[in-house]
Amino acid sequence: MHDGFIQLHAPNSDLIQDELRAGLLAPQAHSSPKYLYDALGSKLFEAICALPEYYPTRTEAAIFTAFADEIASSIGPGKALIDLGAGNCAKAANLFASLQPSQYVPVDISVDFLRDTVASLRQRFPQIEMLGVGMDFSESLDLPHAVRSHERLFFYPGSSIGNYTPEQALAYLRRIRAACSDEASGLLIGVDLVKDSALLDAAYDDALGVTAAFNLNLLRHLNTVLGADFNVRDWQHRGFFNAQESRIEMHLEARHAVTVTWRDGERRFAAGERIHTENSYKYTQQGFASLLERAGFELRHRWTDPHQWFLVCHAGTA
Ligand code: AVI
Repeated sequence: MHDGFIQLHAPNSDLIQDELRAGLLAPQAHSSPKYLYDALGSKLFEAICALPEYYPTRTEAAIFTAFADEIASSIGPGKALIDLGAGNCAKAANLFASLQPSQYVPVDISVDFLRDTVASLRQRFPQIEMLGVGMDFSESLDLPHAVRSHERLFFYPGSSIGNYTPEQALAYLRRIRAACSDEASGLLIGVDLVKDSALLDAAYDDALGVTAAFNLNLLRHLNTVLGADFNVRDWQHRGFFNAQESRIEMHLEARHAVTVTWRDGERRFAAGERIHTENSYKYTQQGFASLLERAGFELRHRWTDPHQWFLVCHAGTA
């Protein structure tokens, strides 16, 4: 029996430490963007979403509002709405009235993040069955049996797909496609589009320095997880659009030569040397449509904003 929440597996801290150490010791030091989201990192990301420079959140929200009826009629009522990376569940909850799902399944790395939000959503929407699932969906999409297997709508907003390389994104979309077993299942996804590089640069290097704090906070997280001695003041944020790769890159750059040690290792960084902390790929409408197709989806409808900065796609099973 479950109480409406299922935690599938707890993250393995040995594996996490191995991955982080290997990243720090690689010729080009790097760290997976998922480690940006400790408790403070998640709060800083929420603050980023409120910045005037960070257009994706409000542009996507405006698309969902402007096209609520069209989106609902493309999808149809009564789906099992599976919210990948649900966080505070707010984006999905805004769609409940128009989409009328019969089951809501917020998925996040830990069910503890979901409990309070789901409890209040249950009060507001008693007609929707709710089941919180704690799992790392970037690795597997083996959902518990209590999640309905037919008429599923996977919901992946916010352009988080852009934080995967295109190859990883394809593999991930294929896993979602494999979890859509019938013709009535599909995917509703938000994707950030290529645009003027000055707008992109500003969105990832804002005037208040919130994105810088979000990036630099990774060092504190590494200190906690690895017992490392990063001094945040030795490092600076770099966030810029790499047009050739069609991606934003975030790095942490050493302000001067510095040696960082952790429990069983160390690395010397030269002045100007960087740790690559995140990519955020930007797609063309055509490019994303072909990625969906290669993953086995059929694009049903797409919606964008007047500037064509952001794209929302509804894809069905081919
Ligand atoms: C979560 N993800 C879609 C954000 C992005 O835009 O790639 C993360 C982020 N990094 C810096 N600002 C926002």
